[in-house]
Amino acid sequence: MILAELKAQLAGLSVVDKLKYLADKFADSVIFSTSFGWEDQAITHLIFSNNIPIKVFTLETGRLLPETYYVWNRTLEIYNKPIHGYYPKNELLEDLVNTKGPNSFYESVENRKECCYIRKIEPLKRALQGNEIWVTGIRAEQSQNREDMHDLEWDEGNRLVKFHPIFEWTLEDVKAYIKENNIVYNSLHDKGFPSIGCAPCTRAVQPGEDFRAGRWWWEDQSKKECGLHNTAEKAVANKG
Ligand code: ADX
Ligand code: SF4
Repeated sequence: MILAELKAQLAGLSVVDKLKYLADKFADSVIFSTSFGWEDQAITHLIFSNNIPIKVFTLETGRLLPETYYVWNRTLEIYNKPIHGYYPKNELLEDLVNTKGPNSFYESVENRKECCYIRKIEPLKRALQGNEIWVTGIRAEQSQNREDMHDLEWDEGNRLVKFHPIFEWTLEDVKAYIKENNIVYNSLHDKGFPSIGCAPCTRAVQPGEDFRAGRWWWEDQSKKECGLHNTAEKAVANKG
């Protein structure tokens, strides 16, 4: 099915119905990636509480924050549904750390991208293998790059369709949904962390600072996506 056709099918449906439609149409080939941030917790709730057959996974980089492991564990307890953890390949990680040390990412953009590749991108490729739809918690409001994206887009690098079900939600919408449904969320959000990644690469932001200011803050602004959501895909987005 081409993208334009899929867009037309989803138009006007509620978020739950969009997820149900995709899960039905692409049976066993829809997968959701969670970082356990509040956007992702909202989507996890939508999927699990409505028993939508969408697989859920996380990229366990080995450097996540304790609060993230707490949310992961509570989510398993609350919904009693599986969340698959994908880990970096042992040999790649051993080689990296034994050659460059555990914190090489602070030294250069190349080193940082190498670490993100080993801890996130390579495991992501394994997670996405064989799937047709990749669901994420991206919202338009999160950054300048993301404003130019669409809720449904073709990802040329991974050869699948990405769907961002809460793309149009504001942060206030996310918070209200979390509150209304009493959803467990990462306590770091209340301490100034808009987005939560690996411990050494995530920090709180000051009021008024950009959403992304707390990620890889030592780098040039323009280089700050980690490669999970490659901006190059914009060029081919909406091809259908
Ligand atoms: S990132 O590109 O900076 O790392 P961000 O934290 O904004 O991503 O999260 C955007 C979306 O990427 C999340 O909603 C989630 O779908 C996915 N994602 C980010 N980090 C992870 C992770 N560690 N495991 C699984 N999915 C992730
Ligand atoms: Fe490595 Fe930091 Fe990327 Fe995590 S966010 S994979 S620690 S460079």
